Amino acid sequence: MCGIVGIIGHEFKVTDLIDGLKKLEYRGYDSAGLAAVNGQELFLSKSVGRVDTLRSVVEENKVIKGGIAHTRWATHGAPSDRNAHPHTDCTGKIAVVHNGIIENYQELKTELIQKGHKFKSETDTEVITHLIEENYKGDLYKAVLDTLKVLKGAFAIAVIHSDHPNVMVGARKGSPLVVGCNNELCVLASDVTPIIKYTRDVVFLEDGDVVFIEGNKMRITDFSGNTVIRKHTNITWDESAAEKGGFKHFMLKEINEIPESIESALVGRFDDDYNPVMHELDEFNIEKIKRILLVACGTSYHAGLVFKYFAEKYLNVDVLIDVASEFRYRPIRIDDETLTIAISQSGETADTLESIRAVKRAGGKVVAISNVVGSTITRESDVTLYMNAGPEIGVAASKTYVNQLILLYTLALYMIKKRNLWTEEHKNIAKQIVSSANLIKKIISNKEIEKVSDHYKNYQHFMYIGRGVNTATALEGALKLKEISYINAVGYPAGELKHGPIALLDPTFPVFAIAPKDSLYEKMRSNIEETRARNARILTIATEGDTEIQKISHDVLYVPEVHEDLYPLIIAPVIQLFAYYIADKRGYDPDKPRNLAKSVTVE
Ligand code: F6R
Repeated sequence: MCGIVGIIGHEFKVTDLIDGLKKLEYRGYDSAGLAAVNGQELFLSKSVGRVDTLRSVVEENKVIKGGIAHTRWATHGAPSDRNAHPHTDCTGKIAVVHNGIIENYQELKTELIQKGHKFKSETDTEVITHLIEENYKGDLYKAVLDTLKVLKGAFAIAVIHSDHPNVMVGARKGSPLVVGCNNELCVLASDVTPIIKYTRDVVFLEDGDVVFIEGNKMRITDFSGNTVIRKHTNITWDESAAEKGGFKHFMLKEINEIPESIESALVGRFDDDYNPVMHELDEFNIEKIKRILLVACGTSYHAGLVFKYFAEKYLNVDVLIDVASEFRYRPIRIDDETLTIAISQSGETADTLESIRAVKRAGGKVVAISNVVGSTITRESDVTLYMNAGPEIGVAASKTYVNQLILLYTLALYMIKKRNLWTEEHKNIAKQIVSSANLIKKIISNKEIEKVSDHYKNYQHFMYIGRGVNTATALEGALKLKEISYINAVGYPAGELKHGPIALLDPTFPVFAIAPKDSLYEKMRSNIEETRARNARILTIATEGDTEIQKISHDVLYVPEVHEDLYPLIIAPVIQLFAYYIADKRGYDPDKPRNLAKSVTVE
């Protein structure tokens, strides 16, 4: 995720562009930059760090006629002035800002270099600029259309040219873009927040849309240039609600961003035949690995647990998993056949970092999974698989947990393929992962989750149970509920109930059962029956069509049928939303749970 904003059509101050960018900082904040036209010239300002640093280097009262700006969350190339957007072509007349990932940038870059183009950054975005330059014959809109035809991946872009100070072109495929015009100018941005200062009448562009803006007029077309009609929306949110995309809290907004976030994690991860792609691991002898050590904390640990179940089922490997605070103090056995995977959204968690250092000291190799380019863990690991979820502001992990799962499933599938264990079943799993964003969009819109949460908001205790891979779901559900609602929630593998925890159950102690139609379904049913016999109130997550489960549950939340190993992925937003609504209904701020920090940099 990155934030982009563009303004064109009337004279305005360069700081207006920065004010707009500031509102998009939640989308990325490792570097920022702008390109502006005033008359015939195009000038650039860039800086590493937050938008306010950019503000401090621009001339405050400078008047411009048009400009584009960008706040970055690095994916290709570390945060630096050089890699900060906008990127310009060889003539210095065309500038582009981009949110997303260009999957085929490497081959495009090679071709462009052969044609004599000089690249200034390590980004994937810069190819767009040179392609537009290559296609430009005096008509910027046409040059953008020709460029879009060869781009693979996800993107929202805004383009300006110093010879056309009154023109801006935008396009979207997979990343958001909104546009609004008033009597004087038009504004294009990643969301409505920079726009509402100028107009509340906006158009949310759809995938495959191009917007050609000239002065204060816009025309929307498809990538072939055919005009399309899009509905206008009147934004009624106030400024603070707009910052949260109209949602009450960042956590709710971030759960709603999961489909977009999944699409970003998946860019370049599967080829057209659903084969997993993980170039980062080319240097690893994946075929030889016999033992995987997984290390992480909290929610990241639960993502690792899903990997353990999944990888052990299909790969001939042992997966040993531990929380980092324990791992780092235990003896570590490393050999050539051992691979360590460290999972950390922030990339700064002290215990995970120390575990990595211990593995490295013992001569081991570490693959990190992280969301933050340049974080300490990514620097100290051998390679990093980036989650590309964009910043997460709510303290509780939501969209980043889902992206961890996406990467971990893909990693396991990659290993399966490399070891010649690939079957039609794996291809089917890959297909379902690729289409999971759409499925999750539907799951998130299920109003039942909020309704049902009302029945549970006043309890003081909660027990989550699941089996197999959904043991991880039960643990994660309990963690999410306890950390933001302060309800004493515990998670157990359901088979453990009768070894102690069932003694807790009575009408004051409800049970959240994760019981999709999988190979352990009948076992879960028996466990639900056991809890019913203790008069506990039961909320079950089940697969659509399973009406039988209603007879033994007080409430049921349904999810669509998927491959049994993928239920943790599609149930994740349900347990997150359930915890969110309970916390909110109990009057707590889910974005800032007491005693917790987003990044745990101390032991
Ligand atoms: C829970 C949560 C924490 C983190 C844990 C590890 O919602 O966010 O449990 O998962 O502190 O953090 P990272 O992944 O940054 O290492």
